[in-house]
Amino acid sequence: MNFPSSLLSFLRKVERAVVLTGAGVSQESGLRTFRDAQSGLWAQYRPEDLATPQAFARDPQLVWDWYALRREKARSAEPNPGHFALVEMEKRIAEFTLITQNVDGLHQRAGSVRVVELHGNLQRVKCSRCGQQASAWEAASPKVPQCLRCGGLLRPDVVWFGESLPPHALAAAIQASQTCQVFFSIGTSGLVQPAASLAYAARERGAVVVEINLEPTPLTGQVDFFLQGKSGEILPALVNATWPSEDSPGQIRE
Ligand code: APR
Repeated sequence: MNFPSSLLSFLRKVERAVVLTGAGVSQESGLRTFRDAQSGLWAQYRPEDLATPQAFARDPQLVWDWYALRREKARSAEPNPGHFALVEMEKRIAEFTLITQNVDGLHQRAGSVRVVELHGNLQRVKCSRCGQQASAWEAASPKVPQCLRCGGLLRPDVVWFGESLPPHALAAAIQASQTCQVFFSIGTSGLVQPAASLAYAARERGAVVVEINLEPTPLTGQVDFFLQGKSGEILPALVNATWPSEDSPGQIRE
Protein backbone atom coordinates (compact mmCIF):
# COMPACT_ATOMS: atom_id res chain seq x y z
CA MET A 1 0.00 0.00 0.00
CA ASN A 2 1.40 3.40 -0.97
CA PHE A 3 0.84 6.51 1.11
CA PRO A 4 1.83 10.07 0.18
CA SER A 5 5.31 10.69 1.62
CA SER A 6 4.13 14.12 2.78
CA LEU A 7 1.58 12.39 5.02
CA LEU A 8 4.13 9.95 6.47
CA SER A 9 6.75 12.59 7.26
CA PHE A 10 4.09 14.81 8.80
CA LEU A 11 2.77 11.98 11.00
CA ARG A 12 6.26 11.20 12.30
CA LYS A 13 6.44 14.71 13.74
CA VAL A 14 2.91 14.93 15.11
CA GLU A 15 2.53 15.41 18.86
CA ARG A 16 -1.24 15.84 19.21
CA ALA A 17 -3.60 13.54 17.35
CA VAL A 18 -7.29 12.78 17.49
CA VAL A 19 -8.94 9.74 15.98
CA LEU A 20 -12.72 9.56 15.62
CA THR A 21 -14.03 6.08 14.90
CA GLY A 22 -17.41 4.78 13.83
CA ALA A 23 -19.07 1.48 13.13
CA GLY A 24 -16.90 0.79 10.06
CA VAL A 25 -13.91 0.11 12.32
CA SER A 26 -15.74 -2.81 13.94
CA GLN A 27 -17.11 -4.14 10.67
CA GLU A 28 -14.07 -6.39 10.19
CA SER A 29 -14.69 -7.84 13.65
CA GLY A 30 -17.97 -9.14 12.30
CA LEU A 31 -20.18 -6.45 13.82
CA ARG A 32 -22.65 -4.86 11.45
CA THR A 33 -22.36 -1.16 10.82
CA PHE A 34 -25.26 0.76 12.25
CA ARG A 35 -26.84 1.55 8.92
CA ASP A 36 -26.49 -1.92 7.38
CA ALA A 37 -29.73 -3.80 6.92
CA GLN A 38 -30.64 -5.95 9.90
CA SER A 39 -31.30 -9.63 9.45
CA GLY A 40 -33.77 -12.25 10.66
CA LEU A 41 -36.51 -11.24 13.04
CA TRP A 42 -35.07 -7.75 13.35
CA ALA A 43 -35.19 -6.99 9.62
CA GLN A 44 -38.55 -5.26 10.03
CA TYR A 45 -37.07 -2.62 12.35
CA ARG A 46 -34.68 0.17 11.50
CA PRO A 47 -32.04 0.68 14.23
CA GLU A 48 -33.15 4.31 14.34
CA ASP A 49 -36.58 3.08 15.43
CA LEU A 50 -35.19 0.99 18.28
CA ALA A 51 -32.59 3.39 19.57
CA THR A 52 -34.86 6.07 21.00
CA PRO A 53 -36.34 6.84 24.43
CA GLN A 54 -39.77 6.72 22.78
CA ALA A 55 -39.19 3.16 21.52
CA PHE A 56 -38.17 2.11 25.04
CA ALA A 57 -41.21 3.78 26.58
CA ARG A 58 -43.48 2.09 24.04
CA ASP A 59 -41.99 -1.40 24.21
CA PRO A 60 -39.14 -1.79 26.73
CA GLN A 61 -38.91 -5.53 26.19
CA LEU A 62 -38.38 -5.16 22.44
CA VAL A 63 -35.60 -2.60 22.90
CA TRP A 64 -34.00 -4.59 25.76
CA ASP A 65 -33.98 -7.76 23.62
CA TRP A 66 -32.37 -5.98 20.69
CA TYR A 67 -29.61 -4.63 22.91
CA ALA A 68 -29.18 -8.01 24.63
CA LEU A 69 -28.43 -9.48 21.21
CA ARG A 70 -26.02 -6.68 20.30
CA ARG A 71 -24.31 -7.02 23.70
CA GLU A 72 -23.79 -10.74 23.10
CA LYS A 73 -22.44 -10.14 19.59
CA ALA A 74 -20.04 -7.50 20.85
CA ARG A 75 -18.87 -9.81 23.63
CA SER A 76 -18.09 -12.63 21.26
CA ALA A 77 -16.38 -10.38 18.68
CA GLU A 78 -12.62 -9.81 18.71
CA PRO A 79 -10.71 -6.60 17.98
CA ASN A 80 -9.30 -6.55 14.43
CA PRO A 81 -5.96 -5.27 13.02
CA GLY A 82 -7.43 -1.76 12.73
CA HIS A 83 -8.09 -1.64 16.48
CA PHE A 84 -4.56 -2.91 17.20
CA ALA A 85 -2.97 -0.38 14.84
CA LEU A 86 -4.65 2.41 16.83
CA VAL A 87 -3.12 0.98 20.03
CA GLU A 88 0.28 1.19 18.35
CA MET A 89 -0.39 4.74 17.15
CA GLU A 90 -1.24 5.78 20.71
CA LYS A 91 2.22 4.59 21.83
CA ARG A 92 3.90 6.69 19.14
CA ILE A 93 2.13 10.03 19.59
CA ALA A 94 2.57 12.10 22.74
CA GLU A 95 -1.03 13.31 23.06
CA PHE A 96 -3.41 10.87 21.49
CA THR A 97 -7.18 10.90 21.96
CA LEU A 98 -9.36 8.19 20.55
CA ILE A 99 -12.95 9.34 20.32
CA THR A 100 -15.35 6.58 19.46
CA GLN A 101 -19.01 6.48 18.54
CA ASN A 102 -18.91 2.71 18.93
CA VAL A 103 -20.54 1.15 21.95
CA ASP A 104 -18.91 -2.29 21.57
CA GLY A 105 -15.85 -1.66 23.78
CA LEU A 106 -13.47 -3.20 21.22
CA HIS A 107 -10.95 -0.35 21.38
CA GLN A 108 -10.45 -0.87 25.10
CA ARG A 109 -10.26 -4.63 24.67
CA ALA A 110 -7.55 -4.13 22.02
CA GLY A 111 -5.56 -2.06 24.53
CA SER A 112 -6.29 1.57 23.68
CA VAL A 113 -5.93 3.63 26.85
CA ARG A 114 -7.27 7.12 26.28
CA VAL A 115 -10.71 6.41 24.85
CA VAL A 116 -13.57 8.89 24.89
CA GLU A 117 -16.87 7.06 24.54
CA LEU A 118 -19.23 9.54 22.93
CA HIS A 119 -22.21 7.21 22.68
CA GLY A 120 -21.79 5.12 25.83
CA ASN A 121 -21.10 1.41 26.13
CA LEU A 122 -23.33 -1.60 25.50
CA GLN A 123 -21.88 -3.52 28.42
CA ARG A 124 -23.17 -1.02 30.98
CA VAL A 125 -26.76 -0.42 31.98
CA LYS A 126 -28.45 2.36 33.89
CA CYS A 127 -31.86 3.02 35.35
CA SER A 128 -34.28 4.68 32.94
CA ARG A 129 -35.88 6.50 35.89
CA CYS A 130 -33.16 7.60 38.34
CA GLY A 131 -30.12 7.29 36.06
CA GLN A 132 -28.16 5.15 38.54
CA GLN A 133 -25.63 2.94 36.72
CA ALA A 134 -25.98 -0.74 37.48
CA SER A 135 -23.04 -3.07 37.18
CA ALA A 136 -24.94 -6.29 37.87
CA TRP A 137 -28.33 -7.43 36.77
CA GLU A 138 -30.16 -10.70 36.23
CA ALA A 139 -28.77 -11.49 32.77
CA ALA A 140 -30.30 -14.94 32.75
CA SER A 141 -33.82 -13.57 32.92
CA PRO A 142 -35.28 -12.51 29.58
CA LYS A 143 -37.38 -9.83 31.29
CA VAL A 144 -36.25 -6.22 31.49
CA PRO A 145 -34.46 -5.96 34.86
CA GLN A 146 -35.37 -3.36 37.46
CA CYS A 147 -33.27 -0.84 39.34
CA LEU A 148 -32.43 -2.01 42.87
CA ARG A 149 -32.70 1.55 44.15
CA CYS A 150 -35.97 2.84 42.68
CA GLY A 151 -37.57 -0.06 40.83
CA GLY A 152 -37.36 1.71 37.44
CA LEU A 153 -36.57 -0.33 34.35
CA LEU A 154 -32.90 -0.74 33.46
CA ARG A 155 -31.77 0.27 29.98
CA PRO A 156 -28.47 0.15 28.11
CA ASP A 157 -26.08 2.99 29.00
CA VAL A 158 -25.88 4.21 25.41
CA VAL A 159 -26.90 7.49 23.84
CA TRP A 160 -30.16 7.20 21.94
CA PHE A 161 -31.37 9.45 19.15
CA GLY A 162 -32.69 12.67 20.62
CA GLU A 163 -30.60 12.34 23.81
CA SER A 164 -27.65 14.48 24.86
CA LEU A 165 -24.16 13.10 24.88
CA PRO A 166 -22.38 12.54 28.21
CA PRO A 167 -21.14 16.10 28.96
CA HIS A 168 -17.63 15.08 30.07
CA ALA A 169 -17.07 12.95 26.99
CA LEU A 170 -18.32 15.68 24.68
CA ALA A 171 -16.18 18.35 26.36
CA ALA A 172 -13.08 16.13 26.12
CA ALA A 173 -13.81 15.39 22.46
CA ILE A 174 -14.24 19.06 21.57
CA GLN A 175 -11.17 20.14 23.50
CA ALA A 176 -8.96 17.49 21.86
CA SER A 177 -10.36 18.21 18.39
CA GLN A 178 -9.72 21.93 18.71
CA THR A 179 -6.09 21.48 19.72
CA CYS A 180 -4.90 18.52 17.64
CA GLN A 181 -2.49 18.74 14.70
CA VAL A 182 -4.05 15.81 12.89
CA PHE A 183 -7.61 14.51 12.97
CA PHE A 184 -8.48 11.08 11.63
CA SER A 185 -12.10 10.24 10.76
CA ILE A 186 -12.30 6.49 10.37
CA GLY A 187 -15.20 4.21 9.43
CA THR A 188 -17.92 6.74 10.13
CA SER A 189 -20.58 8.00 7.74
CA GLY A 190 -20.43 11.44 9.38
CA LEU A 191 -24.20 11.70 9.47
CA VAL A 192 -24.72 11.94 13.23
CA GLN A 193 -24.12 15.14 15.16
CA PRO A 194 -22.31 16.34 17.15
CA ALA A 195 -19.64 13.72 16.37
CA ALA A 196 -19.67 14.67 12.70
CA SER A 197 -18.82 18.30 13.48
CA LEU A 198 -15.57 17.43 15.29
CA ALA A 199 -13.61 17.03 12.06
CA TYR A 200 -14.72 20.50 10.95
CA ALA A 201 -13.78 21.98 14.34
CA ALA A 202 -10.30 20.46 13.96
CA ARG A 203 -9.96 21.70 10.40
CA GLU A 204 -10.95 25.23 11.33
CA ARG A 205 -8.15 25.32 13.90
CA GLY A 206 -5.64 24.23 11.27
CA ALA A 207 -5.46 20.45 11.80
CA VAL A 208 -4.69 18.17 8.90
CA VAL A 209 -7.74 15.94 8.37
CA VAL A 210 -7.33 12.36 7.20
CA GLU A 211 -10.29 10.16 6.37
CA ILE A 212 -10.29 6.38 6.07
CA ASN A 213 -13.48 4.86 4.69
CA LEU A 214 -14.68 2.28 2.23
CA GLU A 215 -16.52 5.01 0.38
CA PRO A 216 -16.70 8.80 0.20
CA THR A 217 -18.80 10.60 2.84
CA PRO A 218 -20.05 14.18 3.21
CA LEU A 219 -16.67 14.98 4.83
CA THR A 220 -14.53 13.67 1.98
CA GLY A 221 -14.50 16.89 -0.04
CA GLN A 222 -13.06 18.76 2.96
CA VAL A 223 -10.20 16.45 3.94
CA ASP A 224 -6.50 16.70 3.21
CA PHE A 225 -6.07 12.96 2.65
CA PHE A 226 -8.77 10.44 1.79
CA LEU A 227 -7.56 6.85 2.13
CA GLN A 228 -10.19 4.63 0.58
CA GLY A 229 -10.48 1.04 1.77
CA LYS A 230 -10.87 -1.11 4.85
CA SER A 231 -9.61 0.37 8.09
CA GLY A 232 -8.39 -3.09 9.16
CA GLU A 233 -6.00 -3.04 6.21
CA ILE A 234 -5.14 0.65 5.84
CA LEU A 235 -4.41 1.40 9.50
CA PRO A 236 -1.77 -1.33 10.08
CA ALA A 237 -0.14 -0.45 6.75
CA LEU A 238 -0.13 3.25 7.65
CA VAL A 239 1.39 2.63 11.08
CA ASN A 240 4.07 0.35 9.64
CA ALA A 241 4.88 2.84 6.87
CA THR A 242 5.04 5.79 9.27
CA TRP A 243 7.15 4.10 11.91
CA PRO A 244 9.09 1.41 10.06
CA SER A 245 10.56 -1.65 11.74
CA GLU A 246 13.87 -0.22 12.95
CA ASP A 247 12.07 1.92 15.52
CA SER A 248 9.03 -0.29 15.91
CA PRO A 249 9.64 -3.48 17.88
CA GLY A 250 6.15 -4.84 17.33
CA GLN A 251 5.26 -4.76 13.64
CA ILE A 252 1.55 -5.05 13.20
CA ARG A 253 0.23 -7.95 11.23
CA GLU A 254 -1.57 -6.78 8.10
N1 APR B 1 -13.37 0.20 6.86
C1 APR B 1 -13.61 1.53 6.78
N2 APR B 1 -14.85 2.04 6.67
C2 APR B 1 -15.88 1.18 6.66
C3 APR B 1 -15.71 -0.22 6.73
C4 APR B 1 -14.37 -0.70 6.83
N3 APR B 1 -14.10 -2.01 6.91
N4 APR B 1 -16.93 -0.81 6.68
C5 APR B 1 -17.82 0.19 6.60
N5 APR B 1 -17.20 1.39 6.57
C6 APR B 1 -17.81 2.72 6.56
C7 APR B 1 -19.05 2.89 5.73
O1 APR B 1 -18.73 3.24 4.40
C8 APR B 1 -19.78 4.01 6.47
O2 APR B 1 -19.38 5.27 5.98
O3 APR B 1 -18.21 2.96 7.88
C9 APR B 1 -19.29 3.86 7.90
C10 APR B 1 -20.33 3.33 8.88
O4 APR B 1 -21.35 4.27 8.97
P1 APR B 1 -22.59 4.11 9.98
O5 APR B 1 -23.14 2.74 9.86
O6 APR B 1 -23.48 5.27 9.73
O7 APR B 1 -21.92 4.19 11.41
P2 APR B 1 -21.47 5.45 12.26
O8 APR B 1 -20.93 6.54 11.40
O9 APR B 1 -20.61 4.93 13.34
O10 APR B 1 -22.83 5.95 12.88
C11 APR B 1 -22.75 6.95 13.83
O11 APR B 1 -24.99 6.80 14.37
O12 APR B 1 -26.85 5.81 14.67
C12 APR B 1 -25.83 6.33 15.33
O13 APR B 1 -25.15 5.89 17.50
C13 APR B 1 -25.08 5.36 16.21
O14 APR B 1 -22.77 5.52 16.75
C14 APR B 1 -23.68 5.45 15.68
C15 APR B 1 -23.73 6.76 14.91
